[in-house]
Amino acid sequence: MATKLRRFPLPRLLLILSTLFFVGQIAASLPWIESNQRYVDHTSGLYPVVLLPGSSCSQIEVRLTDAYEPPSPACEALKRDGRWSLLYKNITAPDAEVPCFADQLRLVYDGDYHNARGVETRPLYFGSTRGFLANEPADRELCMGKLVEALEQAGYRDGESLFGAPYDFRHAPAAEGQANRELSRFRRALRALVERASRANGDKAVALVSHSQGGYFTMDFLRRSPLSWRRRFVKHYVMASTGAGGFVVSMQFFASTGNSSSSPPSPATAMSLPSVGRTLPSRFTALPSPMAFGDDTPLVVTRNKSYAACDMSAFLAAAGLPPDMVRLYETRELPVALNLGAPLVPVTCVNGVGVPTTEMLVYRDGLDGTPEVAYGDGDGVVNLASIVALDKVIGGHPRQEYYRSVRIANMSHRGVVSNPVALQRLVGEILVVTSVEDTRVM
Ligand SMILES: *[C@@H]1O[C@H](CO)[C@@H](O)[C@H](O)[C@H]1NC(C)=O
Ligand SMILES: *[C@@H]1O[C@H](CO)[C@@H](O)[C@H](O)[C@H]1NC(C)=O
Ligand SMILES: *[C@@H]1O[C@H](CO)[C@@H](O)[C@H](O)[C@H]1NC(C)=O
Ligand SMILES: *[C@@H]1O[C@H](CO)[C@@H](O)[C@H](O)[C@H]1NC(C)=O
Repeated sequence: MATKLRRFPLPRLLLILSTLFFVGQIAASLPWIESNQRYVDHTSGLYPVVLLPGSSCSQIEVRLTDAYEPPSPACEALKRDGRWSLLYKNITAPDAEVPCFADQLRLVYDGDYHNARGVETRPLYFGSTRGFLANEPADRELCMGKLVEALEQAGYRDGESLFGAPYDFRHAPAAEGQANRELSRFRRALRALVERASRANGDKAVALVSHSQGGYFTMDFLRRSPLSWRRRFVKHYVMASTGAGGFVVSMQFFASTGNSSSSPPSPATAMSLPSVGRTLPSRFTALPSPMAFGDDTPLVVTRNKSYAACDMSAFLAAAGLPPDMVRLYETRELPVALNLGAPLVPVTCVNGVGVPTTEMLVYRDGLDGTPEVAYGDGDGVVNLASIVALDKVIGGHPRQEYYRSVRIANMSHRGVVSNPVALQRLVGEILVVTSVEDTRVM
């Protein structure tokens, strides 16, 4: 695929590609895409790219201070004299250490989310793509490994023109006015990284590229950076596999927390233990939002009640979430979903469609049973309704000038960043020169 990128001049390649692919509902504007877009002139150098991977891709290091109170004496040894070591995803630690890892991965809420006392964490290799590719081989597809390869074939180099922004995916953007030290820290670090990437590349503005959960972190970052800064430093934002209104399958996590894992937990899988997962704000991020799902579209159906996106609080309560946690969702996470907004820098959304995607969960025997699943269109994770809502939420914003929505037929959530066919398309979009006079509000 990468050799093809070299063999064909880009405009021609893109022309060929756009005849091969179904480009969502903007198909009507295809002639405009083909004739008016311009592409990077490679002789003048590439503009820098910063990648934000999806959930569970960033690696997290831990350091324990004297204040740490281990849940058992066996965990005491992990203090390691205050040295950093790998907390997630540690595939070499013995299974006996599962309770220690779970204790260090859980979050505590007391007006803000933070680690347990005495636990310090940081993403591994911030600034580089190495951190989120350090995972076991199976995760390289999901974690942008193939995209990094494709960008390297196009001439990008890690640390020179290509950068990575790993983040603590246990956390989540919160409503304006809510304390959120972790996200504030991340925004500061990302802002400095973008400025450094720009300086290192002749002061060119930077392209941000996210996958899945990385989209929520990027949207939060852009929305809370001054508009003048955005316009100076962000050339293009390419958001892959993130909808504007979450997805239905995320509700399943709340309904059947009981016993999903069949194999015994290891330190590498401790993140998915209920004792950890139940404490993480990120589990609320992708709950279906009324921005995408209609008030009379049932998403979860039980024997005597059905829940639409606007009934989310009632659903969470019925699923056994304590009232203070439901309130936290309502005050901290829901407003983010309702005010997603538009970044007001050039945006291209790239999503897979045409893959069976959970559209409704039917619980005949109560919310702790096993649901029957009704499937609809989407990328296998994100529902089509959520993908379509991007056109309204971002594209429909009166001040959002450049906006494109690219839908790739028969392409899965992870396929968008790993399938060779999708990668050609995605890399093409990343290399596109976005100039406002070529575009119009969608
Ligand atoms: C993984 O955990 C084990 C046991 O706690 C530790 O000895 C090891 O250093 C960790 N791995 C890394 C890469 O830090
Ligand atoms: C949970 O799963 C384990 C292993 O599959 C099984 O032994 C146990 O009985 C299950 N517990 C419940 C409450 O279903
Ligand atoms: C409806 O379902 C809930 C939860 O299963 C149950 O508590 C309630 O009694 C049911 N109400 C009726 C009228 O059946
Ligand atoms: C998508 O898959 C369906 C079913 O396999 C097939 O009929 C259709 O031609 C495919 N579309 C594209 C654009 O590949």
